[in-house]
Amino acid sequence: MFEIKKYLQEQRLLVEEALRRHMLAAAGDFAAHIETMSYSLFVGGKRVRPILCLAAGRCVNTAPDIDEQLLPAACALECIHTYSLIHDDLPAMDNDDLRRGQPTCHKKFGEAEAILAGDSLLTYAFELLASEQFFGPAPATRLRQIAILAKAAGPLGMVGGQFLDIASEKKQIPFELLQTIHRSKTGALLTAAVQMGAVGGGADEAQLQALMEYGQAVGLAFQIADDLLDVTASTVQLGKTAGHDAEQGKATYPAFFGIEKSRALADEAAERAVAALSNFDQRAEPLRALAQYIVSRTH
Ligand code: IPE
Ligand code: IPE
Ligand code: MG
Ligand code: MG
Ligand code: MG
Repeated sequence: MFEIKKYLQEQRLLVEEALRRHMLAAAGDFAAHIETMSYSLFVGGKRVRPILCLAAGRCVNTAPDIDEQLLPAACALECIHTYSLIHDDLPAMDNDDLRRGQPTCHKKFGEAEAILAGDSLLTYAFELLASEQFFGPAPATRLRQIAILAKAAGPLGMVGGQFLDIASEKKQIPFELLQTIHRSKTGALLTAAVQMGAVGGGADEAQLQALMEYGQAVGLAFQIADDLLDVTASTVQLGKTAGHDAEQGKATYPAFFGIEKSRALADEAAERAVAALSNFDQRAEPLRALAQYIVSRTH
């Protein structure tokens, strides 16, 4: 039986150690700015995207240095994700005061400072991926990872999805658009995490295809679970304000289908994710367990 709790804890520590190693030191004239980035990055977080990246890479590659090869990509993913959270919480967007159990970046440091912290985390992610100073895969592989991340985070991915999310507030929208929002604002980056890991591990075409299918399914499952937790969990449990989606008239699965049906759809997506891995052996066990965890998590 795969022990997901222990696994997540170990992997979180590994990712956080690498993030600390790869993050800029808060010193000199830019110290206060670096501090705003580091605050949001190290204040907590489940580190699901970097963990998915590592798990996907290890699934296709058992070289002893595979973790080191994958960690720049894993760290870049967490930088992009953290930036997306900082901007998501801004007054002009979801207007949230609490994130990862602490005051949001703009509450702690001010709005302009938070916008800039997000901007720097976004840019620094690509510096991490592109710079030779960070140990990682060969240049051609890095280039592929950069393209994957840029596409997933950009206008037809996370940012475009955030735009549609805001544009759909307090509106009746068709189910197809709700799916598009979830696939882009959240699914794209989670899929990219799996894809970047697969590419970093040197996956062949068939492996890459299967892993992408897995990523797309867990990506959708992840946001349905997030919507469900907003309705069913407490603020203390979540470390972010519960019940915020209904208050803001967000387009969510529970608003569309109710709790029970949404849970069934999340479970179905997780099952689809596991089914996509049918050609993998026990090395894909962490990915299978992660799919289950994503729909059964409590925060
Ligand atoms: C929250 O992401 C925002 C979504 C995309 C749903 P996470 O649930 O991964 O947040 P952290 O990183 O653990 O704080
Ligand atoms: C956020 O979705 C997706 C992002 C790209 C950050 P939510 O707005 O539902 O995320 P939370 O609930 O604030 O973490
Ligand atoms: Mg939002
Ligand atoms: Mg939000
Ligand atoms: Mg949410």
